[in-house]
Amino acid sequence: MDIIQLTNVSHYYKTYDEEGNSSKVVGVENVSLSIKQGQFVALVGHNGCGKSTLAKLLNGLLLPDTGKVEVFGMDTADRSKIFEIRKNVGMVFQNPDNQMVESIVEDDVAFGPENLGIPQAEIVERVQTALQQVGMADFAKRTAHKLSGGQKQRIAIAGALAIRPNVLVLDESTAMLDPLGRKEVLGVAKQLNQSGMTVVLITHFMEEVLDADLVVVMNEGHVAKTGTPMEIFNDEQLLAEVGLQAPRAVQLAKKLHKAGWDVDSNCTDATQLGGKVCQLLRKN
Ligand SMILES: Nc1ncnc2c1ncn2[C@@H]1O[C@H](COP(=O)(O)OP(=O)(O)OP(=O)(O)O)[C@@H](O)[C@H]1O
Ligand SMILES: [Mg+2]
Repeated sequence: MDIIQLTNVSHYYKTYDEEGNSSKVVGVENVSLSIKQGQFVALVGHNGCGKSTLAKLLNGLLLPDTGKVEVFGMDTADRSKIFEIRKNVGMVFQNPDNQMVESIVEDDVAFGPENLGIPQAEIVERVQTALQQVGMADFAKRTAHKLSGGQKQRIAIAGALAIRPNVLVLDESTAMLDPLGRKEVLGVAKQLNQSGMTVVLITHFMEEVLDADLVVVMNEGHVAKTGTPMEIFNDEQLLAEVGLQAPRAVQLAKKLHKAGWDVDSNCTDATQLGGKVCQLLRKN
């Protein structure tokens, strides 16, 4: 079932030069896209190609100038539905420090449901569940700003989960993290998806899209291509056009295969590829 549907959506920003003359900047233009219940969707593309604009259109933080965004059948342009739409689509952004509103972890996670007017007993339950979902249950009483970047982002995800959304949008939520933090946050995203959550992951780390059900490649405000990770990684012309590179393991597997090595050219797993290469080297 399609739960999010974008039909010919364009959003433009207005900018002003020093003389006060305005000009129109493309955020996204003529984007059509469907997201299905339970999908893990990865959104990739060069800086400024419109990923964040698209993310904000998904929960009505931005509205289309033309076209339509529907979330569970609700039009984001319908002001009477915006509250319901925001409850359905949780968002986590890039900078963990900008997303903390309270100093103690459990208070921070409770912030969203408190604003929804949820009864206190239910808030306590929601906070506990959300912290468990991100593997941070033991950190409930900790001071949020003393946590690592990856832990802070997991708390931010818990905050979004406490609203009980159906869709979680992570806008470059791993971009400012070290490799461990990235792994933690990506692990949480995958686990949530496995338990049924629809996830939209915006990233510039191509390794993070390997397990996605659908990859959406954006370029200059447009959707350049949608497909499975391998459909995208095998399209060398597209990757060159949009200035992206397949993950290292994928590139290496293809090169070895081309050079006549007995490796699967569609291998995506670095460890598996390394093992196969060692095996072949031992044979020779
Ligand atoms: N508030 C704004 N005012 C004016 N132009 C904007 C604004 N926000 C974004 N833009 C422009 O809209 C285009 C799309 O920006 P957007 O932030 O959606 O891209 P992005 O793919 O998320 O980029 P990044 O990878 O840097 O996060 C860019 O040209 C950007 O400069
Ligand atoms: Mg962005």
